[in-house]
Amino acid sequence: MRILLAFALLALWQASNPAAAPDRRFSDLKAPAPADERGAELDGWREISCARCHADVVQEWSTTLHGRAWVDEAYREELAEVRRQESCHNCHIPEPLHLQLGADGAIPQKPKARDATLHNAPVPDVDAHFGVSCESCHRGPDGAILGPWGAPTEAHKSLKHASFLPESKSALCVACHATTVGPVIGIAKDFVDTDQAARGRSCVACHMAPVERPAASEDGKPALPARAGRSHALQTPRDPSFLARAFELAAERRGDKVVVRITNACGHRVPGRIGRVLTLEAELLDAAGKVVARGSVAIETKKSLAADATLEIELAGQGQAVRVVGRHAAPALPDDVLFLDRRLALP
Ligand code: HEC
Ligand code: HEC
Ligand code: HEC
Ligand code: HEC
Ligand code: HEC
Repeated sequence: MRILLAFALLALWQASNPAAAPDRRFSDLKAPAPADERGAELDGWREISCARCHADVVQEWSTTLHGRAWVDEAYREELAEVRRQESCHNCHIPEPLHLQLGADGAIPQKPKARDATLHNAPVPDVDAHFGVSCESCHRGPDGAILGPWGAPTEAHKSLKHASFLPESKSALCVACHATTVGPVIGIAKDFVDTDQAARGRSCVACHMAPVERPAASEDGKPALPARAGRSHALQTPRDPSFLARAFELAAERRGDKVVVRITNACGHRVPGRIGRVLTLEAELLDAAGKVVARGSVAIETKKSLAADATLEIELAGQGQAVRVVGRHAAPALPDDVLFLDRRLALP
């Protein structure tokens, strides 16, 4: 069923969206992951105080692992095995990051944890309870809310802050995604080491799709006009069309062979999470569409494709075109999901 759905979505998407062409960039992304492929909403998100006026943002966030970082079963299981559990809480229930800025105003690269007893209390502080919460990223000193505009409102003090501006947006994400602790792959380190920011890339541009939304209001009557914002329903490889954008594909003749080149276009290693396996199969086709040769590669945690790296599949013989098919296997997926099916003409 899921595979069928993925097929249908992929076909629909490729038919309707020219961004399927390999040379388009991620920053063009318009839509967040299809709802079926995303996580379910988190129970209790409506209790979060921000939801009174920002229900759309909180609902988006509630479908992600940021919303589940503390209540996540996988986290609880691993935590039970760890002796110094406090060392795990730093990124799963952080003290708001902007309440622990360095002397130079920089985001801490080793955030401090909140007191876990607050979370284990019979009536937990719901605004922080779920882990990587609204407060983790937006709460600033003196009760202010930090954001991209600093638009005045009576609801709360709002300040414009560099963390939410294009130049430095990735710093916020790097704070928690760069270290290698427990089962975590520190993929943001790849992003920093290969200086992706210098090429105009940012975590936010790829993982938080652009949306247009009405300004917040308590009574449903916004005082400000609708404007550009970002979806908090993170784009993840659960969405086959997003996953397909991890790779740039090209095919060329080389002597008596045809070579398919698969280049990482993410700015960090792929796959970006433990336990996932991506298989890419290539078929060399003759003019009649008959398969002349086949080859495949599998990439996984221990044999990942580094940022900017290219790998090649060699196909013996000559033909007119190459078909590349990608499949995604992950512990959370009951069946493999087809995320890519592309035909490359040979020059
Ligand atoms: C420096 C920040 C940080 C610390 C400290 C940290 N984590 Fe995480 N954790 C993350 C991030 C970021 C992810 C998501 C990315 C990933 O899975 O690689 C994550 C994901 C996880 C997952 C989900 C993995 C999966 O794919 O299902 C588990 C389980 C987990 N962490 C357990 C732990 C445990 C146990 C500790 C303490 C030993 C710990 N974490 C400490 C940042 C952190
Ligand atoms: C991991 C960090 C992070 C978390 C967690 C987070 N935000 Fe954001 N938020 C951002 C970033 C980054 C932007 C700015 C995006 C841009 O404009 O480029 C943003 C923008 C916003 C905006 C401006 C409007 C818009 O659509 O961009 C609002 C309102 C907002 N967040 C509310 C919330 C609420 C409410 C929560 C809790 C459900 C939350 N945020 C959780 C990082 C975060
Ligand atoms: C009583 C209603 C109300 C509540 C509760 C509320 N907000 Fe707001 N918020 C607003 C209004 C109104 C604006 C201004 C209009 C807009 O930017 O959408 C705003 C703006 C923002 C912005 C944009 C700031 C900027 O740069 O201009 C962010 C981020 C934000 N809120 C986050 C939060 C978070 C996080 C919470 C919960 C801790 C929260 N808000 C609770 C009404 C509220
Ligand atoms: C306070 C620490 C923290 C910050 C800041 C943070 N993350 Fe995360 N992120 C995590 C943790 C922890 C997880 C995994 C939780 C789990 O598996 O239980 C995660 C998961 C994710 C995932 C997988 C989501 C899913 O639903 O599958 C993506 C993508 C991601 N983060 C991107 C970002 C981006 C982009 C930013 C910056 C806007 C960011 N993160 C900022 C800690 C953080
Ligand atoms: C050019 C676009 C792009 C940029 C920039 C980018 N990512 Fe990704 N990211 C992707 C794509 C595509 C995937 C899916 C590839 C995969 O892991 O299979 C991904 C995967 C991930 C995952 C794994 C999620 C999961 O559920 O397996 C995390 C976590 C993540 N990115 C975080 C980040 C952070 C943090 C940054 C910034 C330091 C960042 N990304 C920058 C495109 C991007």
